[in-house]
Amino acid sequence: MTRGGKIVACVFATIFMFCAALIVYAVQAPDEITIKDSLWPNPTKTPVKFSHKKHAEDYKIACGQCHHIVKDGKKVPLPEGAAVEKCDKCHNEATIQGEKKLPPDQQKKNLKLAFHDNCIPCHKKAKQEKPDTKAPITCNQCHIPPAK
Ligand code: HEC
Ligand code: HEC
Ligand code: HEC
Ligand code: HEC
Repeated sequence: MTRGGKIVACVFATIFMFCAALIVYAVQAPDEITIKDSLWPNPTKTPVKFSHKKHAEDYKIACGQCHHIVKDGKKVPLPEGAAVEKCDKCHNEATIQGEKKLPPDQQKKNLKLAFHDNCIPCHKKAKQEKPDTKAPITCNQCHIPPAK
């Protein structure tokens, strides 16, 4: 490639990346949500508060750490600009007791495991790195018991 060609290619690459970034920001995450999935009409625990704003902006966690699509049966991080689906679109197995005893293919579809296996390992890692972390680890820190 000639030098001029390289510069042109570079300019196009920059424009492309800028547009890709705009597309990513076009998918807006709600700042704060309360997770209360309709797969469990009679939940046994209280709903869980989750802040996109803090996780994305303060803790600098990429969308694709939690949101994924499936390619050749494997989970891959949400590609730029792709639509965000609710977890229960795919994780629609509802067992909430003894879910770790389900056959492996059912475990992969289990919704409770999907939530817990997403949130908890990362929080445990945060605690190892920073013992006074705000990241909740115990049941009651996420499922805050109703005030008496
Ligand atoms: C630490 C994990 C995590 C990160 C990081 C994260 N999200 Fe989420 N997001 C969730 C969870 C959990 C839900 C609730 C999903 C559900 O109810 O099935 C959710 C819900 C959403 C929803 C609403 C979906 C619906 O139909 O109700 C959108 C939109 C969304 N996220 C976009 C984003 C974008 C964009 C980013 C990156 C800026 C992002 N999220 C980063 C965990 C995360
Ligand atoms: C488009 C379908 C789809 C959506 C939407 C989806 N998942 Fe998954 N997820 C899968 C599949 C399929 C696997 C198993 C991949 C494999 O076998 O490697 C998986 C695996 C996982 C795993 C690792 C397996 C485990 O249980 O330890 C976690 C954790 C997980 N998903 C959490 C989530 C969370 C949280 C959400 C919503 C924010 C979500 N998933 C949305 C299809 C999906
Ligand atoms: C990839 C890492 C990661 C994942 C996944 C993750 N978190 Fe966190 N979360 C953190 C870190 C890091 C902190 C606290 C950092 C600190 O102490 O400043 C935190 C803090 C929190 C807090 C307390 C502060 C706040 O934001 O209000 C709550 C509640 C929380 N997370 C809920 C969740 C839930 C619910 C999920 C799963 C849906 C989840 N998190 C998934 C990394 C993660
Ligand atoms: C990091 C946060 C976090 C921690 C810690 C956590 N959970 Fe959860 N759990 C969730 C989220 C998010 C959901 C999905 C909430 C919903 O849709 O109601 C969930 C769902 C559940 C459900 C299924 C829905 C229901 O209410 O019946 C049960 C049962 C449950 N958790 C029990 C526990 C127990 C027991 C512990 C402690 C051993 C625990 N959780 C620790 C985040 C957490």
